[in-house]
Amino acid sequence: MAKQRPKSQPRLKVGLVGCGGISHVHLTGWDRLYPQCEVSAICDILPEALERRGTEFEIPPDQWYSTHEDMLKKADIDAVDVCVPNGAHAEISINALRAGKHVICEKPLAPTPNEIRRMIAARDESGKILMTAQHQRFLRSSQNLRAYLDTEALGDVYYCRAHFLRRRNLPVRPSFITKSESGGGPCIDIGVHILDLALHFMGFPDPVTVTGITPCKLGKRTDIRGGWGEWDRERMSVEDFAAGFVRFANGAALSLECSWLLNIKEREYQRIVLCGTEAGAEWPELTIHGEEAGCLTDTKLSFPDDRVDGHHTELLEFALAALKGQPSPVPPEESLIVMRILNGLYRSYETGREVEV
Ligand SMILES: NC(=O)c1ccc[n+]([C@@H]2O[C@H](COP(=O)([O-])OP(=O)(O)OC[C@H]3O[C@@H](n4cnc5c(N)ncnc54)[C@H](O)[C@@H]3O)[C@@H](O)[C@H]2O)c1
Repeated sequence: MAKQRPKSQPRLKVGLVGCGGISHVHLTGWDRLYPQCEVSAICDILPEALERRGTEFEIPPDQWYSTHEDMLKKADIDAVDVCVPNGAHAEISINALRAGKHVICEKPLAPTPNEIRRMIAARDESGKILMTAQHQRFLRSSQNLRAYLDTEALGDVYYCRAHFLRRRNLPVRPSFITKSESGGGPCIDIGVHILDLALHFMGFPDPVTVTGITPCKLGKRTDIRGGWGEWDRERMSVEDFAAGFVRFANGAALSLECSWLLNIKEREYQRIVLCGTEAGAEWPELTIHGEEAGCLTDTKLSFPDDRVDGHHTELLEFALAALKGQPSPVPPEESLIVMRILNGLYRSYETGREVEV
């Protein structure tokens, strides 16, 4: 049945670029915000991707575009939602900002710090919003822990462990495993999630140095299987595991581990451990660990409402900020800090030493 369009115009008209895997989540999210928001144009270089998403989400075929330049020129849109492989994020976002559109861009904002700097410069010239789609910040567990941390119950947080580890789950599409398209492996794909969230909890301290390793030990082997199917071992040009240690200007430190393939017990887990002078906290369990009157205390935080979809909330927050002229809910300056650290890991592995970031 055709979508019932109200007579009044939607308040935020969005053009979505990249009709692949993650676009389904975004288009579903935008549909939930209808009629205040509407995806009125879509773009993909593949006609079959355009047809699949355009048909499913009832976007008129005359608003299907094969290049983002054409979409920016012809479509009546206020904002652009960038869902293409990482290597194309900067170009499309910068062109959209220069065309006077607000931009929400999938993570990582871009795979190198310099691209993010250029995006920030374009944002400054345009006066529009540029937001990274770090949906994990918008999970209820993240929002509640962030609010709890604001009470300073942990004291001075001087150490953090951030882990996002998969035993045998490598995304098999070429856009993930080819360095020129993705910019990197698990570091860039899922390390970016857990590091962004850990830094968000820590209040984004300024990183000074990074040491780490980013090897590909299993990813080229034909005797190693993946839970998400086969991948092209010849094209595999990124790491399959990364580990690093970051020192911050305020004296705090963080250890990061992320993998697609790693010989560990668990199939997959994400964990952030924050250690402060008064107590520690763990995410996503939301437990607090301290000491009172000589007794060790372990407290579990719980909340009356925890059914929140991070992806959809991030779109809502973006739309509200764009419509009200408020700052970006995920500032690109913070994504730049994340990428300086991840880029430092690669440089450290290449040089075999600690590097300044
Ligand atoms: N937040 C999350 O949890 C999450 C999950 C998955 C993917 N992502 C991110 O979303 C982005 C896309 O990932 P995906 O899994 O949807 O990839 P995908 O390969 O499934 O889809 C990408 C689509 O972009 C199209 N495309 C490529 N270059 C283009 C261009 N220049 N112009 C227009 N279209 C172009 C491709 O044809 C394809 O249809 C990546 O940056 C990825 O990191 C985020």
